[in-house]
Amino acid sequence: MTKIGIFFGTETGTTRLIAKKIHKLLGDEVASKPVNVNRTAAADFLQYDALILGVPSYGDGALPGRSAKCIEANWEEFLQGLGEVDLTGKRIALFGLGAQERYADCFASSMIQLYRVLKNYGADIVGAWSTEGYQFKHSASIVDGRFVGLVIDQRTQGMLTDQRIQVWVEQIKPLLTVT
Ligand SMILES: Cc1cc2nc3c(=O)[nH]c(=O)nc-3n(C[C@H](O)[C@H](O)[C@H](O)COP(=O)(O)O)c2cc1C
Repeated sequence: MTKIGIFFGTETGTTRLIAKKIHKLLGDEVASKPVNVNRTAAADFLQYDALILGVPSYGDGALPGRSAKCIEANWEEFLQGLGEVDLTGKRIALFGLGAQERYADCFASSMIQLYRVLKNYGADIVGAWSTEGYQFKHSASIVDGRFVGLVIDQRTQGMLTDQRIQVWVEQIKPLLTVT
């Protein structure tokens, strides 16, 4: 079975918390411990054929990092270090954090930035998620009527988080662990 790598970017720790919950559900045998992208090298990331990647939304849906006024290095800096790579054959599931009331016009929109880059490098993105149950005006992270990954809003809908993660993990696990 393919072991899943879990990587996340974070500014205030929420995306780390969600990554840990996902890891706990999958267990140590199935997935490696979540790693912050500002503390990892490209080679550690590239060793996995199956990945779960977490991305918070900052800068009106920009790729999180210093250009989006983040204090910590985030996906922007990690992808710069990664350079252009061939991700053909890699299966990747994304989850994105956002706040639908405060950022209703660009809810969880940073996830699309990561999606585009990874898809452009050849990755197979799995784990699209329904937009039902969220209230927002616009999100850039919708393709063919679905979010390109799981969306979590701890601020407004934290009480739904555990159930959302559970359903999503059940959905992606067979897609990521297939040999
Ligand atoms: C300065 C700032 C900008 C934000 N921009 C967005 C945004 O564009 N869209 C969105 O849905 N949420 C936005 N948020 C909400 C964060 O994405 C949300 O709080 C998330 O859980 C933060 O994750 P982290 O704790 O891992 O950094 C923003 C929050 C802050 C403080």
